[in-house]
Amino acid sequence: MSEAIEVYEVEGRTFPPPAEFAAQANTRDRSFYEEAEADYEAFWARQARELITWDTDFDTTLEWNLPDAKWFVGGKLNITANCLDRHVEAGRGDKVAYHYEGEPGDTRSITYGELLTEVKKFANVLKGLGLQKGDIAAIYMPMILELPIAMLACARIGVAHSVIFGGFSADAIIDRCDDAKAKVIITADGGNRKGAPAPLKHTVDEALSRGAETVENVIVANRCDLDPDMVDGRDHWWHDLMADASDDCPAEPMDSEQLLYLLYTSGTTSKPKGIMHTTGGYLAQTCFTHKYVFDLKPDTDIYWCAADIGWVTGHSYIVYAPLANGCTSVMYEGTPDTPHRGRFWEIIEKYKVTQLYTAPTAIRMFMKWGTQEPERFDLSSLRVMGTVGEPINPEAWMWYHEHIGGGNTPIVDTWWQTETGGQMITPLPGVTTTKPGSACHAIPGVFAELVDNDGKPVSVGGGYLTIARPWPGMLRGIWGNPERYLETYWSRFEGRYFAGDGAKIDDDGYLWLLGRVDDVMNVSGHRISTTEVESALVDHPAVAEAAVVGANDDLTGQAIIGYVILRGTHEASKELGDEIREHVGVRLGKIARPKTVIIVPDLPKTRSGKIMRRLLRDVADGRALGDTTTLADPAVVAEIAAGAAGGDED
Ligand code: PRX
Repeated sequence: MSEAIEVYEVEGRTFPPPAEFAAQANTRDRSFYEEAEADYEAFWARQARELITWDTDFDTTLEWNLPDAKWFVGGKLNITANCLDRHVEAGRGDKVAYHYEGEPGDTRSITYGELLTEVKKFANVLKGLGLQKGDIAAIYMPMILELPIAMLACARIGVAHSVIFGGFSADAIIDRCDDAKAKVIITADGGNRKGAPAPLKHTVDEALSRGAETVENVIVANRCDLDPDMVDGRDHWWHDLMADASDDCPAEPMDSEQLLYLLYTSGTTSKPKGIMHTTGGYLAQTCFTHKYVFDLKPDTDIYWCAADIGWVTGHSYIVYAPLANGCTSVMYEGTPDTPHRGRFWEIIEKYKVTQLYTAPTAIRMFMKWGTQEPERFDLSSLRVMGTVGEPINPEAWMWYHEHIGGGNTPIVDTWWQTETGGQMITPLPGVTTTKPGSACHAIPGVFAELVDNDGKPVSVGGGYLTIARPWPGMLRGIWGNPERYLETYWSRFEGRYFAGDGAKIDDDGYLWLLGRVDDVMNVSGHRISTTEVESALVDHPAVAEAAVVGANDDLTGQAIIGYVILRGTHEASKELGDEIREHVGVRLGKIARPKTVIIVPDLPKTRSGKIMRRLLRDVADGRALGDTTTLADPAVVAEIAAGAAGGDED
């Protein structure tokens, strides 16, 4: 068994759903679990019919030919008709879809009716530029309303979107556009980040000057008045195109398996993979979980998912599910500490937010800032609080519970992945007795099982997390690479989806997620591949060889530590080390920049030539590491050398 599956002491505390909450919850007993256990296809079919408006009902719930799944076969729907038209047609056009809060404090509320008009118009803009069903549009935007509008406009006409997180670099744009053969990039001049405009368009220009040759047009929304260069014939202002666009664009029914989007995520190789999501199954699972995991009451709730739409959390739980479920959401552009450290709590007080969905890394940061920040605000509107992206340590869970939730607000720790489309393992807040640090149980209709190295089910103890049966929101493949899809997810354990995570199941059957068991790091809830960072390090002219590990970090969960060997004539210096760190930032984007680069004369290898990462991780874990370069510290070298003499890693 991999060393990553070491098990920590299981928490003893338990928190049953508060009686008052349970009494009003959307689901209050085990009936969903029982129904799904008895016939999970029938369960999902019922949910899909209840939650989704179909133009043509499906005839087959599931066609499963491992690893290829088709859900709700024969069904036709338009996802934007579900997100928008049906609410407007039901007389809810004046209901606010998003309360938008810009970082500088500017606000804008957009109703379902207004959003529908914008989406129709932008869909016509895309058609006007020649985009058709089956094409792919790249979107590289800050958190502004034009981002969900662009995504929905694509979906309305069957163009798949590929959203590229706004913090990524020009190289990341090139890789993703080349792989997807994107025809257009939708972007903005910039977005507000920590009190200043952060330009975006110029990164697109840089990408297009070096690659992304399939891109014919660039659409630029004006957020910050940055006045970027506009290339004649290629670049168009959003507002110019929209000024002339018609708002007549009926929602064409699409096949349930119509490709909805690609979202690139890191795996164990150096190139990110394009995870494919389709329409019907994805919408069914995201709507179901959004309604029952957050106990959503669309008429009265104000829901806030504080993620960035550039990640899957934002796709599923800022855009598609909240809109399809017809709720009012808050959408926030900025960071939690701008202009002050009480920003989140101020927003909750201002809008009377009922559900907050954020990441453990943010909670740990809030803990560090102290209780005086949330204490300044009225947080009593909160009914359910979610976390996602990484394991939540029990201390952070308790802090969230006590200081944000006032000791009586259910917490839902939701485990899922870009690949799963929607939440998979989580409490249901009116049903589940929670334990701080445990994501508790698979949702009804999802079969999470732990297995040992040989694929044998583990009923108590540590193991590899697998999903034993297909689920509606599952990825439908890796774009352009069916072999890699089969190999990555469906080959390690026969007949099972392998998530790449280790977990423990306790005596009561509760699941405790323990982190990745492969070469994928999790930094502040973001997936970064060690190989990808290593490639970026060796891409620097002074670097001969590099090894990257994720070390434990109190704030970010894991921190990226890069060990590098310099090429012949280069002298180790702090400046060079810092330059190498920055180089990764430029190649991949700031989130992938190593926290520390350690310049070493040699790397420990097994007899078969494999780098001994465990040893490097131990060395990094045993050291207080700052945002720095560490030069060949003799003690580090000695430890690495001693370990290198120790033979093979398992
Ligand atoms: O290791 C798990 C961790 O995040 C990985 C998925 O990352 P990504 O595809 O970027 O999606 C993140 C948001 C859905 C998983 O393999 N992870 C996610 N949620 C949790 C988690 N680990 C523990 N507990 C969670 N609640």
